[in-house]
Amino acid sequence: MKNIRKVIIPVAGWGTRSLPATKNIPKEMLPVYNKPVIQYVVEEAQRARIEDVIFVTNRDKSVIEDHFDYNLQLEAVLERGGKLDKVAEVRKVAEMVNIMSVRQKKQLGLGHAVLCARELVRADPFAVMVGDDLMFGGVPAIGQLIDVAIAEKMPVIGVVEVPFEKVNRYGIIDGEEISPGIFRVRDMVEKPKREDAPSRLAIVGRYVLTPDIFDYLEQVKPGHDGEIQLTDAMQTLAQHRGMMAVRLTGMRFDTGDWAEFLTANIYFALQDEELHYDLLALLKNFVQLQ
Ligand code: UTP
Repeated sequence: MKNIRKVIIPVAGWGTRSLPATKNIPKEMLPVYNKPVIQYVVEEAQRARIEDVIFVTNRDKSVIEDHFDYNLQLEAVLERGGKLDKVAEVRKVAEMVNIMSVRQKKQLGLGHAVLCARELVRADPFAVMVGDDLMFGGVPAIGQLIDVAIAEKMPVIGVVEVPFEKVNRYGIIDGEEISPGIFRVRDMVEKPKREDAPSRLAIVGRYVLTPDIFDYLEQVKPGHDGEIQLTDAMQTLAQHRGMMAVRLTGMRFDTGDWAEFLTANIYFALQDEELHYDLLALLKNFVQLQ
């Protein structure tokens, strides 16, 4: 398998869990400390040497593409004010990666969103990163998958171990651990009943896939919630081509979940030396009051 240069980032969902914040703002643009969630995701892709980002968007999400473009008027204002560090900061975001986009005209699920990008991916293996899943620390999560995909010449999915009570919220894999943290996938099941789950290894928003997934996605029938599930097509892909899973190391925040979103904000704000002590003092004070 060649090196992976393209990533599909679906950002076309409704973000209903994050309402009312997301009534008019895409949830991928909500800030985690001083950057929108989507910037962390694109920075992870860039660190894994991905060059081309394909956003799957909808009519209300053009602000996401704009964030990764130049804002020359703003740069001019900052330059006139002598704020050259800020100029560099905003320009850097426009120069990280090449941006392409495709519309998902109906929100028919993650699998359908990936299928919408078919014409922009063509024949090469590619990555998928879910636009509201923030991963951080150590080797970029998508880079961990790319390394295994190249070594094993197979599609690879990212997994994390979740508590038993939460297995019914995720796609869960049945796998054989062939080396620490690396699994050969035997099967997978979307949102199983707790007692039926084959493991506690949950599929999270990072994948390296081969273009034959698109044919399988075209055959997937909508599930009970009316959505075309990526897991269903990956199950067929795993049967035909084999598939590996990597237990991801590092932090993970599902920013569509308020508790995780707020924790991410505090985590990243605490990393900033200038803010660290003031924020900690305020938080300690606040927690004592509870
Ligand atoms: P989620 O299920 O977390 O997103 O999908 P959602 O549907 O926007 O959120 P809730 O559950 O209503 O709060 C994961 C990712 O897939 C994208 C979303 O934008 C999100 O980044 N997605 C989801 C699409 O692009 N299209 C879809 O049809 C569904």
